[in-house]
Amino acid sequence: MTNNNSFDAHREDFPIFSDLKDAYLDNAATSHKPYSVIEAEQTFYERYNSNPLRGFYPLSLEATNQVELARDKVRGFINAKSTKEIIFTKNATESINTAAFSFCTGNLKRGDKIVVAVTEHHSNMLPWRSAAKLIGADIEYLKCNNEGEFTAEEINRCIDERTKVVAVGIVSNVTGRTAPIDLIVQRAHQAGAVVFADGAQSVPHMKTDVQALDVDFLAFSGHKMLAAMGVGVLYGKEEILDKMPPFLTGGEMIDSVTLDEVTYAQLPSKFEAGTLNAAGIVSLGTAIDYYNSLDIEKIRQRELLLTKRAFEGLSAIPNVHIIGSSDHTDHAGILSFTVDGVHPHDVSEILSSDGICIRAGHHCAQPLLAHLGVYACSRASLMFYNTENEIDKFISSVSTIRQRMGYKDV
Ligand SMILES: Cc1ncc(COP(=O)(O)O)c(C=O)c1O
Repeated sequence: MTNNNSFDAHREDFPIFSDLKDAYLDNAATSHKPYSVIEAEQTFYERYNSNPLRGFYPLSLEATNQVELARDKVRGFINAKSTKEIIFTKNATESINTAAFSFCTGNLKRGDKIVVAVTEHHSNMLPWRSAAKLIGADIEYLKCNNEGEFTAEEINRCIDERTKVVAVGIVSNVTGRTAPIDLIVQRAHQAGAVVFADGAQSVPHMKTDVQALDVDFLAFSGHKMLAAMGVGVLYGKEEILDKMPPFLTGGEMIDSVTLDEVTYAQLPSKFEAGTLNAAGIVSLGTAIDYYNSLDIEKIRQRELLLTKRAFEGLSAIPNVHIIGSSDHTDHAGILSFTVDGVHPHDVSEILSSDGICIRAGHHCAQPLLAHLGVYACSRASLMFYNTENEIDKFISSVSTIRQRMGYKDV
C-alpha cells in the first residue's frame, strides 16, 4: 500500500536525484525519468535496433512488436477503444498541428468557426490560427474569468452552430485549473463541433479516460510523463481520423503509389510518415508501466497534498500573489505567482541561488497572461516525487525575496 510519505522512497527510482541537490519544481516543463525508462530506451538500441514497420526479418519484426506493445499500453492508459486511435508523433505540439491542419482542411470551409480557449499554451492556439487562416475560418476565444474559470454562460455564448472545432486544454499550464470538459463537450457536440483536448498537463497527473470524457481528440507529450523527449501522442476517434487526410506524407504511410496516384495506409500508419522514434515510444510504454505500478489515483492524491502545502505557504507570504483560483484544489500541482515589485526573472534567479528550480516568464501563454493583466510570472510545478522538504525550502526562499531586493516592508 502506497501512503503519502512512502512516495519519498520512489525518488530512488530516479537516477538524477542521486546527484541533483536542487529542488526541481519545473515539472510542467519536463519530468525526470526513472531508471526503468532510461534502461528501456537503451535496451531498444542494444537488442532491437532496426527500423520498425518496414523489415520482414526477425530483428525488424521485434522492433515493430516493441512499438506496438507500447501503443497498446498507451491505449490502455487513456482507455481508447483501439490502437488505431493512437498516433505517435514527436511531441504534443506536433500532435496538435497534425489534428489542426488535417481536420480543418478536410472538414472546414470559409466562414466556419474554431473556438480556442484563451487559456491555451501557444502550441494549442497557433496551429488552429494558422489552419483558420488557410481556410478562411474565424477564430473566437473562449474567455475565462480572473480565477481562470470558464463559466457555463461563456461556454454557451461562445460555442454556436457555426462552430466546428473547440480547442481547450484539460489543465492550464499557468493557472493549473481543470477545464469543465464535460460542459464543453456537451455544448460542442450539440452544436456539431468536435473537441480537441490538450492533455499535456493533465495526462501525467490524473486519470484520463477518453471514452468517458468523450473528447474527439487528445494530445500529450511523453517527456512530461517520465518518458524520453521526442515522443508525443495524438488520440483521435477512429471514425473521425479515418476520414481525415494525412498531415505529413512520405514513407510508411501509403498503401500504393504510382506516378499519378496514391492511396494511404490504414490507421494509425496514415498519420505516421517517416521513421518513428521507436526507442522513445518504448520508453513511453515503460513509463506507463511505472505509472500503473504506483497508481495514477494515488499519484494525484500525493500531488494534491504537496500542492496544498505549497499553496498555503505562498498564500501566507505578504506581497506574493497566486494566479488563478483561491482554492488550492483547483491548482493540480501548478502554482504561478507574482512578487510585488520583483521581476519574475529575478525571482527565478534568487530561487536558483537557493537551489530551487522554477520557471519564469510568459510560459508560452502570452494571450492568457495579457487577459489576466499579468505581463509575466513565476511558476512552481510539482510531481509526485517532490518532497515536503522541497516545498518548505521553496516557501522559505520566496519569503526572503523582497528583503533581498532591498524592500524594507517585506
Ligand atoms: C498545456 C501545454 N500544451 C502543450 C505543450 C507543448 O508540449 P511540447 O513542447 O512537449 O510539444 C505544453 C508544454 O509545456 C503545455 O504545457
